[in-house]
Amino acid sequence: MPLRAAFKPIALLGAIALLVIRCIADPAICVTVQADAPGTHINPAMWGVFFEDINFGADGGLSAELIKNGSFEFPDPRMGWTRLGDKNTSENSVRYLARSDGAPANMRLAEITSEPNDFYGLSNEGFRGIGLKASEDYDFTIEARCVASSGPLKLKVELVGGHAVLASASLNISSSNWAQLKVTLKPSATVAKAKLTLILEDNGTVQIDRVSLFPTKTWKNRPQGLRADMVQRLADMKPGFIRFPGGCVVEGFNLGLRYQWKQTILPREERMLLLNRWNVEFKDRPVPDYYQSFGLGFWEYFQLCEDLNAEPLPILNCGMACQYNSGELAPMEALQPYIQDALDLIEFANGPVTSTWGAKRAALGHPEPFRMKLLGIGNEQWGPQYVERYQAFAKELKAKHPEVQLLVAAGPSPSGARFDYLWEQWKRLKPDLVDEHSYSSPSWFIEGFTRYDGYDRTGTKVFVGEYACHTKEQKNNLTAAISEAVFMLGLERNADVVRMAAYAPLFAHVDAWQWRPDLIWFDNLRTILTPSYYVQQLFSLNRGDVVLPVVLALAGSTTGKTGQLYASAVLEEKTGDLIVKIVNPANEKVEASLKLAGLPIKKRRVRVTVLTAASGEMENTPEAPDRVAPQESALESMPSAMVFQAQSFTVLRVEQF
Ligand code: AHR
Repeated sequence: MPLRAAFKPIALLGAIALLVIRCIADPAICVTVQADAPGTHINPAMWGVFFEDINFGADGGLSAELIKNGSFEFPDPRMGWTRLGDKNTSENSVRYLARSDGAPANMRLAEITSEPNDFYGLSNEGFRGIGLKASEDYDFTIEARCVASSGPLKLKVELVGGHAVLASASLNISSSNWAQLKVTLKPSATVAKAKLTLILEDNGTVQIDRVSLFPTKTWKNRPQGLRADMVQRLADMKPGFIRFPGGCVVEGFNLGLRYQWKQTILPREERMLLLNRWNVEFKDRPVPDYYQSFGLGFWEYFQLCEDLNAEPLPILNCGMACQYNSGELAPMEALQPYIQDALDLIEFANGPVTSTWGAKRAALGHPEPFRMKLLGIGNEQWGPQYVERYQAFAKELKAKHPEVQLLVAAGPSPSGARFDYLWEQWKRLKPDLVDEHSYSSPSWFIEGFTRYDGYDRTGTKVFVGEYACHTKEQKNNLTAAISEAVFMLGLERNADVVRMAAYAPLFAHVDAWQWRPDLIWFDNLRTILTPSYYVQQLFSLNRGDVVLPVVLALAGSTTGKTGQLYASAVLEEKTGDLIVKIVNPANEKVEASLKLAGLPIKKRRVRVTVLTAASGEMENTPEAPDRVAPQESALESMPSAMVFQAQSFTVLRVEQF
């Protein structure tokens, strides 16, 4: 424990004496928080999250649907499905057919024909398997009808783990009209990679469509809802905002493949499937079975923001496809539908129930507005075409909705010609917030402690919308997290300029990721929290309301930086607690004396949280998920000195009792 010296009164006296002498005579570090000099107010929504359907974040992740391609709408309708049957003699045992009565989002069905004593069927593999928990309920639904048969036909539904049948049910398909059949299945064992099988056990033909399996226990137990354990991890962070739905998925390879929010508030069966842009983005990590089915669409998104008390921050396509891909542009004279999408989204979120889109929100069960105040125009766009398009959006949006703050991009990286060009334009055009994205090395993040010190205090504010420390191995290790913590201290100290920030990406499936590092890993049953998650959480839960100046004696500066330790402090107004955050990114432990200046002397209990580990290489894995986690302790009073372990992040919450 880094604080052990401070717990022992006799050792402590000696240590203080030593440290005081060193503070005067020698280069020991003295951290002084000026508690009586409150500065900038921190945005209550400062620390948020950014959700994008990457790494199976939505389909196969947050959206709790367990059947992949349940409606046979993937370009290859067989994807995710395997034909079952003892004898593979009949070519016609399973066929995939176009639906003559098909709606645009549901153009195909599957047909199974069994013969006497020769039964056929299909099995679905789920998203890298189906995760099942023993004794929990799973809601199975299927649309089915009999074809060319007089009597009812029996369809056996099974959940299978290895060679064991974990749950089984039999459904009677009796009508030649489509009907939805339901059954609740309760698996007898917990299995991470089960499958679903459907066998037609009578001689005849059935057609099936929209096969679905959801855990009954979802987030807030909403039918067809979100995976509860994953949402809980977000709730535990108390995010100030949720940026959604991207990221690059907003842009698409071309405009036809862009994200269109209106599609995602339709009834589930009407939401058009879309190729996920991460499906083919990385040649070395192809994911041919990655599509967006929008089980998590804009309706679920707004609900989630409300559940977590987080500000919605939607990002919309600005008439530009991804400039790393086709870069397709909507000509200026054809931009109006894109602008209209933005106007309609504001109406959907905030408009009265008498308005067209407000009425749609009410019809979904939410007559009250969602009170959306932020809207991003474009993701990582750049160049004059972007500026031109933003101006067209801003002209109309600001005239009709001055209450909504508009966010623009600073391009795909935090420096360089594209970045400089855009900032020059934004200084002139004054959007409300400029979104900077940084994926860089540990040293970049540590130097980033002072990045915002030189920004104009009166100009356009900054949203650090995507960032993550990328080590050489792209691991979610302690070094990455500690570097991010230093950077975040810099954001906190500059909370007058930087109003919001979010790590990226948020989720990654251990068997289906395209991009790493990521904040939260998961498999079909569990989540694995990274050291970076804990850093985000510690900042968010210790946000405070007002920044307090910190002086570090060694550098003699007011930057909160000594070259060894980095620090920042805030005051939480409702509790009166003073929170000091100190990061030691070095590979050696550092001693420092601590002083709270300007506080009346009284005994104040201190809660201490330390995130560290035996080495910077350490990370949490599915096999060892708790290797790096914060440790908490309490002190009866503020210590005069502390030892900050190598690669550690310490939060001291000084209680005002
Ligand atoms: O976070 C992953 C991707 O990184 C985002 O989609 C994009 O905005 C950025 O390039």
